[in-house]
Amino acid sequence: MKKLNLIIIVVVLAASSVQAQISHELWLGEQTPAAVNVVSVKSSPTLEIAKKELQDRFVGTPGSTIRILVDKKGNNDLKTDGYKLDNNTIKAKSDIGALYGAYALLRRQQTGEPVSGVVSNPSYERRILDHWDNLDGSVERGYAGNSIFWHGKDSLAVLPSDRKLWHEYARANCSIGINGSVINNVNASPLVLTDAYLQRVKAIADILRPYGIKIYLSVNFASPVALKELSTADPLDGKVISWWSQKVKEIYSIIPDFGGFLVKASSEGQPGPQNYGRSHAEGANMLADALKPYDGIVMWRAFVYTANDEDRAKQAYAEFTPLDGKFRDNVIIQVKNGPIDFQPREPFSPLFGAMKKTSVMVEFQITQEYLGHSTHLVFLSPMWEECLKSDTYQNGKGSTVAKCTDGSIYDQAHTAIAGVSNIGLDSNWCGHPFAQANWYAFGRLAWNNELASEQIADEWLKLSFHKDAAKMKNNLDYAANWSRHFLQPVKQMMLDSREAAVNYMMPLGLHHIMSANGHYGPGPWWAPKGVRSDWTPPYYHQADKNGIGFDRTIQGSGAVRQYHEPVLSKFNNLATCPDKYLLWFHHLPWNYKMKDGHTLWDALCYHYDKGVKQVRSFQKIWDRVAPFIDSSRFLEVQMKLRYQCANAILWKDACLLYFQQFSRMAIPYDIERPV
Ligand code: GCU
Repeated sequence: MKKLNLIIIVVVLAASSVQAQISHELWLGEQTPAAVNVVSVKSSPTLEIAKKELQDRFVGTPGSTIRILVDKKGNNDLKTDGYKLDNNTIKAKSDIGALYGAYALLRRQQTGEPVSGVVSNPSYERRILDHWDNLDGSVERGYAGNSIFWHGKDSLAVLPSDRKLWHEYARANCSIGINGSVINNVNASPLVLTDAYLQRVKAIADILRPYGIKIYLSVNFASPVALKELSTADPLDGKVISWWSQKVKEIYSIIPDFGGFLVKASSEGQPGPQNYGRSHAEGANMLADALKPYDGIVMWRAFVYTANDEDRAKQAYAEFTPLDGKFRDNVIIQVKNGPIDFQPREPFSPLFGAMKKTSVMVEFQITQEYLGHSTHLVFLSPMWEECLKSDTYQNGKGSTVAKCTDGSIYDQAHTAIAGVSNIGLDSNWCGHPFAQANWYAFGRLAWNNELASEQIADEWLKLSFHKDAAKMKNNLDYAANWSRHFLQPVKQMMLDSREAAVNYMMPLGLHHIMSANGHYGPGPWWAPKGVRSDWTPPYYHQADKNGIGFDRTIQGSGAVRQYHEPVLSKFNNLATCPDKYLLWFHHLPWNYKMKDGHTLWDALCYHYDKGVKQVRSFQKIWDRVAPFIDSSRFLEVQMKLRYQCANAILWKDACLLYFQQFSRMAIPYDIERPV
C-alpha cells in the first residue's frame, strides 16, 4: 500500500513538473535553432541577450549571418526603442531597440510574418506593469498565487530561485516590449522605502536592467508620518519637501535608473494632499520636484471618489479637470479605462482628451478582478481595443483615447500606459493558461496601440501552442489541420469570450453587480448594513418596480455632460445610445421597447441566456482540439471551462430571478429556465 502511495506521489510530481515546464515557457517556446552567426560590433549585457536569443531560436539556413547594427545618431525614423528588420539585419538606435528587434524577428519567424522591410516604433515611451503585490507576499486582486517579488519581512534575502524567476519574468516582458514594473501595491506600505526593502528592490532592478525594464515604486503619501519620522505629510511643508528629496536621493544612490513613483492618494482611504487641504497638483508636484533631478516621473492616479451624494462616475473628472495645466511636466495622470472601476464593460473615462495641458495615461487591469478571476477564459484585448479606439472628439473627430494619450494630439512631455498585472507564483504564472494571453496582449497593445485583437490572438496562439514545429514542417496535412481545427476555432473563442462574459454577467450597460468584496459571483441584492452605499450593487443598477439602470443623462446625474459633443448627445439620447451602454446612462421601464422590438426585460433575459450558450459553445470548441495540444493544458482548460459554464448559469439565474421580483414579467420560454 505504502509503495503504491509512493508511486502515485512520484507520478503526480512528475506530471506537475511537466506542466510547470510547459507553462513556464509562456510564448517563448523552444525552437530547433539553425546554427547561425550573430554579428554585432558593439557588446553590452543587453546585446549579449539579443545574440543568445537569436543563436538559440533563429530558424534559417545554417551558417547564415544575422547582423545587429546599433547607431545612436542614424536611423532617424526610429525612436529610442524602435527597430528595423531587413535581410537578416537588425537596426536600432539603442541596445534595447536591438533586443526588441531580435524578439520581433523571432516572433515573426514563428508566426509566419514578413521579417524584412519592417520598421517598428512603440506607441508609448513607458509600457508598465503595475503589480498590486504586498510586502507580505499576498497580491491584492491576484489570482495566480503569491507575489514573485515579496515573501514577507523575514524573507528579504535574495535566493537563487528568486533570481531565476525574475530573470524569466524580465525576458517575457522584454519580448513583448514592456519596459517598466511597479513592484508593490498601490495601497502602498511605507516600509518599501526603508533600506532593507530597498536593497531587495535593487536586486530586482539589477536583474531587470539588461532587459530594459525600469523599476518604479508605489508610495504611500503619508510615508514620513507612517515611518514616524515627521509629524506631517503636508506637501507644502518644508520638512516634508526635504524628507522626500532626501529619500529620492537615497533611492537613486541605490538604483541609479529608478523610474519613479506611482501614487494612490486621497482615494479609498489612502492618505493624500487633501488631508492637509492641498490639491492633487500640489501633492504630485512636490514628489515630481524631488524626482526631477534624476529624470524620475510621478504617475498620479485619478481613481478618486468619496461616499457623497455625487454620482461616483463623475468624481474623477470633477476633481481633475480644474487642475489641467497645473502639474509639473514629469507628472502623468493615470486614468482607469472607464469612469467606475475595471468593469466588464464601461464607456471610456471622460477624462481622456479632456486634460489638454497635462500628460495622461491609461490604466488597464490585466488581472481579472471583475471578469471571473483566473477561472474564466476571458481574452481582454477586445475590451482594451474598444477603449483605445473610442473617439472622445476632444480635439475633433478621430481624437481616440489612444491618440489622446500617445502624444499624437497633445504635446505630452511623457507618454505611458499601465496594466495591473495578473502574474504570481503559480506554475503557469497567471492561474489560467489563457490568462497569459492577456499579459501578452497588454504588452503588444502598449507597443502598438493600433493592433487588432485578432492579430494578437493569432500571434499568441501560434507562439504558445504551435509547439510541434517538426510535424508542421514535414506534414502539410497536419499543418493545415492545425490551422483549420485548432487555430481558427480557438482564436474565435478568444475573440468572443469578453462579450460572452459581459452577456452572462452584466449586459446592456449594467455594472458593479457582483457579490461582496470578492468581486466574483453575482450579487445584485448585496447591500449589508454598514457598507457604504456606493460599494453595493443596488446603487449601480437602481432596479425597482419602475425599471432598471442608472440615469446619468442631463436630467439625471448629469455625468453624460462630461463627454464632448457629439458623444454627449449620442449617449444622452435613447435613440442613439448604443445598447451596450443603455443601462449605464439610462433608467428605463421594464417594458421599454428596444431597437429590435423586444421589451427591455426580454432583452435582458436573452443576453444572459446568450452568455451561457456562448460558454457552452466554447466547451465544445475546446473538446475538439485535444489532438492538437498537450494533455496537461487541454485538461486544465477543459476543467476551467466547466466551472465557467456553471458560473455563467449561476449569474444568469441569480440575476434574472432577482430582477424578476421588480419586473414581474415572465422569463421567455425559449430560454433555459432558472432553477
Ligand atoms: C479596485 C479594487 C481595489 C484597488 C482599487 C484601486 O477598487 O477592488 O482592490 O485597490 O481598485 O485601483 O486602487
